Amino acid sequence: QSPCGPIIHGLEDVLVKTTSITDIDGDRGILWIRGYRVEELAAHGSYEEVAYLILRGRLPNRRELQEFSERLKASRELSPAAVEVLRSLAKAHPMFALEAAVAAEGAFDEDNLKLAEALRAGRYKEEEKALAVKVAEKLVAKIPTMIAYHYRFSRGLELVRPRHDLSHAANFLYMMFGREPDPLAVRGIDLYLILHSDHEVPASTFTALVVASTLSDMYSAVAAAVGALKGPLHGGANEAAVKSYLQIGDPSKAKEVVEAATKPGGPKLMGVGHRVYKAYDPRAKIFREFSQEYVKKFGDPQKLYAIAEAIEREVLSSPYFQQRRLYPNVDFWSGIAFYYMGVPYEYFTPIFAASRVVGWVAHILEYWENNRIFRPRACYMGPHDVPYVPIDQRS
Ligand code: SDX
Repeated sequence: QSPCGPIIHGLEDVLVKTTSITDIDGDRGILWIRGYRVEELAAHGSYEEVAYLILRGRLPNRRELQEFSERLKASRELSPAAVEVLRSLAKAHPMFALEAAVAAEGAFDEDNLKLAEALRAGRYKEEEKALAVKVAEKLVAKIPTMIAYHYRFSRGLELVRPRHDLSHAANFLYMMFGREPDPLAVRGIDLYLILHSDHEVPASTFTALVVASTLSDMYSAVAAAVGALKGPLHGGANEAAVKSYLQIGDPSKAKEVVEAATKPGGPKLMGVGHRVYKAYDPRAKIFREFSQEYVKKFGDPQKLYAIAEAIEREVLSSPYFQQRRLYPNVDFWSGIAFYYMGVPYEYFTPIFAASRVVGWVAHILEYWENNRIFRPRACYMGPHDVPYVPIDQRS
């Protein structure tokens, strides 16, 4: 409460737009993407198919999917500016490098600049909307390349250029590690990309919308969203979760770790809790199954799956977590399989961005249909008309 009226802390439950992209039933733990339950899309789809669905509102037929995949493949390469930015930030955390590379790519993307010009001139009709979808598709195509190139630069390795014959997920692993990717690893990346593709209006999507609402440009909106996703309370939780499992080191330690998180001001358990889900995150359930399959095939030498399982057991039986309806979320399980694939944990959140970019741009396209600049208010609590005192008279 404030003298001006109620302050909605963290904008909890504040509606900022209508959407037909994603719906979440937080109480029952259900996620629909364009009306399909996420379980259906995870079981039958590919990221290319789900990205098409999110961008265009319906599943593609075989020809449309083929053409869309071809457009993505044709746009995988980066401008020299973006490659140089990634090289110069080789020693930086990949999320900083990704943020900078997206801005650099957008600064020289002719379509992005042309669209920004049209928006600036107040033109946003069929031709501009088609251009906006084209820019959106290019962003979806390029993020995996940015991540893989940074990984190569950070290890002093030669760049591995995209391979036209590989799918989105397979090509990403190929550009990262420079070898034919294992089919189960490809399935894991594709599943991860599907599960994170959109989630209504979390902090990073809201960030993208705020930037887009000023009619800046689509690449700048995505670069800003990457900055928001980096935070450990949002996308960065998957990196933090695996780091904590590595530090815990043994399932027998789970009880004390969970206990510590229940103390006032104690360290929050990464991958647990959610602003909207007050039930088990349906995406986490799907990735839990995949992680179990992955460690069964490739082993669990650091006992990460066993540690996560022990933490989950404690959380589900803890009055503190149950009273607050806190359950594992998508980040609780997603990092384990990645870690064993050889993806360093500082690359987990960048892969989250490679997936969510399609959600960010789809919400921007939707918002531009009836754009209005975001400009909330603050309740002023300070004095007014304070007399100015010359510096020599100040104590
Ligand atoms: C993602 O929004 C989205 O959709 C995001 C996302 C997406 O797809 O885009 O789903 C992806 O960001 C998943 C969330 C990843 N973050 C984490 O796992 C970080 C750990 N989680 C918490 O920081 C927290 O649960 C948030 C940030 C996810 C939600 O924060 P809220 O809604 O502001 O909740 P809160 O901080 O007000 O917590 C309510 C209570 C508090 O206790 P009390 O003050 O009432 O005593 O629950 C406690 C919190 O201390 N709490 C936790 C906890 N999460 C909340 N206590 C211990 N460990 C936790 N993880």
